[in-house]
Amino acid sequence: MFLSLDGIDGVGKSTQLKVLVEKFQHLGCEVITCREPGSTQLGESIREILLNDWETPIDVVSEMLLYMASRAQLVQEVIRPALERGQTVIADRYLLASVVYQGCGGKLDTDSIWDVGRVATGGLLPDLTIVLDLPLDEAASRLGEPDRIESRGDAYREALRKEFLAEAENRPEQIQVVDARGTKDEVADRIWSVVEKIVES
Ligand code: TYD
Repeated sequence: MFLSLDGIDGVGKSTQLKVLVEKFQHLGCEVITCREPGSTQLGESIREILLNDWETPIDVVSEMLLYMASRAQLVQEVIRPALERGQTVIADRYLLASVVYQGCGGKLDTDSIWDVGRVATGGLLPDLTIVLDLPLDEAASRLGEPDRIESRGDAYREALRKEFLAEAENRPEQIQVVDARGTKDEVADRIWSVVEKIVES
C-alpha cells in the first residue's frame, strides 16, 4: 500500500501523517514514511538548495527537475524496496506537489510535469493521494518561518489551493480531497474514512 498526503503549506499534513501511521500500525502493518524533497542523502542535499538557499538563482524548470531528481532517488532507494518487502509507505508529498507547485509558477503546463514525473518515478503512483484542504487564512495561521517556496505570497498560495482541487477533480480515482477544518481527531476520522475504502478493497 502506497499513500501520499499533500496540500498547501499549513494544512496540518505532518500531524495527520503521524496519526495515519499509528492507525496502520494498529492494524499490524509495517509502515515507513518519507518526506519530499528529502529522505535520501541526495534528496536532503537537494532540499537544502531548494528550500534554504536564498542565494542561488533557480529557474522554474530547474526547480521542477530538482524536485524530480529527489523523487527519482527516493523511489529507487526507499519506496520501491519498501513496497517489495510488503511494507506500507506513507509519503509526505509526492508527484502531485510538483504538478501543483511548479505548475503554478506560470511557465510549465501540468501535463508536461505529469510526463516528467512518469520518467522520474518509473510510473509509480500512490494507491491514493489525500489532499488536505483549508481556506488560505486558516492555513496561514499555522505557518512558521517561511522557506523559499512559502515566501511566494498569497496569490501564489491561492493558485496552489485551486490547482490542488482541480487536479483532484480531474483524477478522482487517484486523488481525494479531505476538509482539514476542525479538530485533529475530526480531520483524522475524515482521512480514515477515505483510506479505509482502499484498505478494504
Ligand atoms: P513541506 O512538506 O511543506 O515541508 P515542511 O513541512 O518541512 O516545511 O515541503 C516543502 C516545500 O516544498 C513546500 O513549500 C512545497 C514545496 N514543494 C514543491 O514546490 N514541489 C514539490 O514537488 C514538493 C515535493 C514540495
